[in-house]
Amino acid sequence: MPSPRTLTCLAILPLLLAGCRSRTQDNPVGKPIAIKAPLGLPPVPVPVDNPVTADSVELGRRLFYDKRLSSDNSLACAHCHDPKFYFTDGLRLSKGVNDQLGVRNAPTLLNSAYMPFQFWDGRAISLEQQSVGPIANPVEMNNAKHEIFLDKLKDDAEYPKMFRKVYGSKEINLVRVEKSLASFERTLLSGNSAFDRFQYGGDQSALTPAQLRGLAVFLNPAGGNCASCHTIGPKDALFTDGKFHNIGQGVNGDGDFTDIGRYHETRVETDKGAFKTPTLRNIAETAPYMHDGSIKTLAAVVDFYAGQGNSNPYLDPEIRKIHLSPQDRRDLVEFLNALTGDLPPNSGPPAK
Ligand code: HEC
Ligand code: HEC
Repeated sequence: MPSPRTLTCLAILPLLLAGCRSRTQDNPVGKPIAIKAPLGLPPVPVPVDNPVTADSVELGRRLFYDKRLSSDNSLACAHCHDPKFYFTDGLRLSKGVNDQLGVRNAPTLLNSAYMPFQFWDGRAISLEQQSVGPIANPVEMNNAKHEIFLDKLKDDAEYPKMFRKVYGSKEINLVRVEKSLASFERTLLSGNSAFDRFQYGGDQSALTPAQLRGLAVFLNPAGGNCASCHTIGPKDALFTDGKFHNIGQGVNGDGDFTDIGRYHETRVETDKGAFKTPTLRNIAETAPYMHDGSIKTLAAVVDFYAGQGNSNPYLDPEIRKIHLSPQDRRDLVEFLNALTGDLPPNSGPPAK
């Protein structure tokens, strides 16, 4: 497990890099393209200094699937964010270089473009800032000396040409790598689920009777009360409020936090054990669940909420005693199954 000190360094590194970010020579030079949001999703936010271009997405996609970003050339981003598993790894905790076990469950990258914070504890605030984290993390790609992987890319026959096409010069630096990866990630959108066709597409028959009952439980403040954090808007739904909550997950039998979560960033006592609300889109495809991957099925997640989480001093007030009949619980799970959307086009490994 990386020491808190290493983690702090990882958190500071992007801030230092942010200083370089205003260099306009690191902005893509091509014609910006519009990313079409599928049914049920809002327009994708794009930072002014990183307009999405067809070439930057293509470069980002190549980098995302390139094992040379890891210290021993053994694994790419896609190792833990695999399109086959809806951009997760299907494991309880991720395994990095040399099979080192990480401390958290890999979240899906689908729709991460909308999140105001990245990581379970929100330690990065943009996709650009995020990507340097896993490359350097000793239990992930283990490439803290980024010159090493940048040199590997510089020696490649294709990359210098691709960087020139995207950024106007063949220089390969960390800011450019981050920006390209982020642009590719902005295209990883997934909507048009059965729920979206019902809620936003006017298709009254898109949900089964059980799913409709489940939706009512999900919304009802006196029922599941799920939508108070996993929000559904009038025109679109991210199924997350983008905030941090303590739901009592990750508290051991002695009432201690096994992972301090958001507190790591804020040092605010009441943030202990709080984690970012994850989206519930495609949730049926991304087991196991929670920041520690400790809950295996959606039925078990619903039982967890019905049991009011594990009590601890900072439990969110929205996690209250709820009465869910066996039928309510089954219906809720059926509803969660209706949130599986389309996978984005052109998101798999690039052609040679
Ligand atoms: C060894 C497995 C592993 C590799 C390799 C990896 N990741 Fe991750 N990724 C994770 C885990 C685990 C988390 C959650 C970590 C946390 O919250 O502390 C994560 C979180 C993220 C997030 C935040 C998503 C969210 O909703 O909070 C993004 C974005 C991301 N990774 C992108 C990437 C990119 C880009 C690469 C390649 C440069 C990459 N990852 C490589 C395991 C991995
Ligand atoms: C107080 C806010 C809040 C409420 C209310 C809430 N959730 Fe959550 N939910 C969260 C947070 C925060 C997490 C992540 C917690 C963690 O990993 O420790 C989470 C995690 C989950 C996960 C796992 C997601 C994943 O990718 O691992 C599922 C499924 C889920 N919630 C469904 C529900 C359902 C169903 C309800 C209603 C019965 C509900 N939630 C009510 C905040 C909330």
